[in-house]
Amino acid sequence: MKNTGPFNAYISAVGHYFPEKVISNQFYVNYLDTTDEWIRTRTGIAERRFAEADQPTSFMAVKAAQMALENRGMTPDEIELIIVATVSPDMIYPSTACIVQDKLGAKNCWGYDILAACSGFIFALTTAVQFIQTGVHKNVMVIGADKMSMMVDMQDRNTCLLFGDAAAAVIIEATDDKNSGFLDNIMHIDGSGAKFLYQPGGGSLNPTTFETVEKRMHFVHQSGQNVFKEAVKGMADVSVEIMKRNNLSSDDIAYLVPHQANLRIIQATADRMGVSIDKVMVNIHKYGNTTSATIPSCISEYWQAGKIKKGDNLILTSFGAGYTWGSILLKWAI
Ligand code: UT7
Repeated sequence: MKNTGPFNAYISAVGHYFPEKVISNQFYVNYLDTTDEWIRTRTGIAERRFAEADQPTSFMAVKAAQMALENRGMTPDEIELIIVATVSPDMIYPSTACIVQDKLGAKNCWGYDILAACSGFIFALTTAVQFIQTGVHKNVMVIGADKMSMMVDMQDRNTCLLFGDAAAAVIIEATDDKNSGFLDNIMHIDGSGAKFLYQPGGGSLNPTTFETVEKRMHFVHQSGQNVFKEAVKGMADVSVEIMKRNNLSSDDIAYLVPHQANLRIIQATADRMGVSIDKVMVNIHKYGNTTSATIPSCISEYWQAGKIKKGDNLILTSFGAGYTWGSILLKWAI
């Protein structure tokens, strides 16, 4: 979607939070039939972080939001809207946005959660941008936060070692400059892919019972190979499409910011786009797949390290359960 509104939106600040507890590959090697070598070569992951039992998703989300606010020099009561992307809300309801709003002390806003799994952050960002471009809001806090350590079956070697916990936040604000900030996006869903990545238990289809818990239906279920193939194709195709329709070649792209599910998926996507790996933001080796937090945490870490410059073209792309996928083109404006 191209911007047809009177204003444009740009990222004015970023922040991230990773829990302190480091979980190395050896943690899994100690009790599962796996090896450090398999995990590193098949996924690119060396370690990930786990939040403590008393640190739910909102705890991490608030920390990330506070860092973004501090970086912007903004107070919580200035925020007009909070959107939290997550598949691991503190509770089914109220929304995690409500809990974050209260803990932050953001007294003058409204907000809600978005569920689009690994594409949650780019879906939330695309939604937030509409409120700014139309002039409805002057600023929006968008947070990607997931406590995946609570969502995976620690006995399932196919999934448990892929994920970690994290949160990251961005503040979106309005600008008159139509050539800077968010320039374009393409978003998709295809529910025929639902059977390859899903959590069957705990919803209205299979409400929690002793049986659903015994069958481990409250955990992530994934057919890795199916998702792998679709993820590469999905992310590369929309990203190439967005480059073409904005007359950009891979030379014009400063950074590709892909969802961090598997280093091989990231490499294959970059190859298909003709983007060299040194232009790809990567933090999967340190944190694993943090679902909604992968893209904003990459941006926040690279920004913190002084690696993003004003005027840089960034392509954000993701693929996740749903299937959900998409691509955002933005020109860095700060
Ligand atoms: O973030 C949301 C979207 N999710 C994704 O994008 C994830 C997409 N999928 C993947 O990243 C990969 O498919 C996985 C990392 C999940 C799996 O990697 P793979 O290369 O597709 O492995 P595979 O499932 O084809 O399994 C290859 C072999 C199998 O053994 P055989 O049948 O060849 O003897 C598995 O049983 O690896 C075996 N295996 C393992 N071996 C050691 C599976 N898990 C493990 C393990 N340790 N943890």
